[in-house]
Amino acid sequence: VSGYAFSGPHQGFGSMARAWTRFWLRFSGARGLGRVAARLAAIPAPPHKGRVVLAQMSPRGFIEPTATIFHSALSLGNGCYIGDRAMLYQRHQGGAIRMEDKVYLYRDVILETGMGGSITIGEGTSLHPKTQVHANVSDIVIGRGVMLASNCSLYSYDHGIAPGMPIKGQDLRSKGPIVIGDGAWLGDGVRVLSGVAVGQGAVIAAGSVLTRDVKENCIAAGNPARVIRSRGNQEERA
Ligand SMILES: CC(C)(COP(=O)(O)OP(=O)(O)OC[C@H]1O[C@@H](n2cnc3c(N)ncnc32)[C@H](O)[C@@H]1OP(=O)(O)O)[C@@H](O)C(=O)NCCC(=O)NCCS
Repeated sequence: VSGYAFSGPHQGFGSMARAWTRFWLRFSGARGLGRVAARLAAIPAPPHKGRVVLAQMSPRGFIEPTATIFHSALSLGNGCYIGDRAMLYQRHQGGAIRMEDKVYLYRDVILETGMGGSITIGEGTSLHPKTQVHANVSDIVIGRGVMLASNCSLYSYDHGIAPGMPIKGQDLRSKGPIVIGDGAWLGDGVRVLSGVAVGQGAVIAAGSVLTRDVKENCIAAGNPARVIRSRGNQEERA
């Protein structure tokens, strides 16, 4: 039984609920009274992923009142969704976060930039719960229409590990930016290390650790991830 007056996967919003939500969405924002309006707008909304409907109802998109935006260089396209307890965080010398239209960040997603690293996320891309993107030293570019399942992590840097001195005191380093091509799908819990490029339309199996590039339309799996076949072969096999 749903606890929401107008929700349910097949019901959507009723017209009264839509009118209520549209009214309060006009005043919603990431801070102060905007957050109060966001809470009011969301009262009739469905839970969990269903809440993206709030972003779809306004070009300004929707930022959940429990999200934290601690960033001075964030640019948001139209209709973006920033979910519950999502964290957009700028460390020392952190570069920009750019989100094109209709980017959805579900709950507990973390985007962090620091030491000149920036994050770009293309139109129609979604990051599922608890996925983390940490762009320190080098950039992270995620293309359009990409699906990052839950619990993925992308780190564009490593700690220095020279012997004879504490790791904690060493500079961060990087093998280069991370690039995820348009239309790629990363399954649950994929780890992407610095300097790795994933080609357009590639599939990365759940739990894989990507240490090397994966070409477009290939399917890669394992730790370290290896290409197991291409999507073309899969279709031939079926
Ligand atoms: C990548 C994936 C789509 C491939 O599915 P598939 O085409 O049915 O592949 P198969 O199950 O036939 O597996 C092919 C081979 O890859 C291996 N493999 C599949 N997934 C693997 C994984 N996550 N890690 C390591 N090896 C894996 C299989 O063991 C098999 O090896 P074998 O030929 O030696 O027996 C699927 O394995 C996967 O990881 N899906 C992600 C699920 C997920 O995260 N969903 C979240 C929702 S967004």
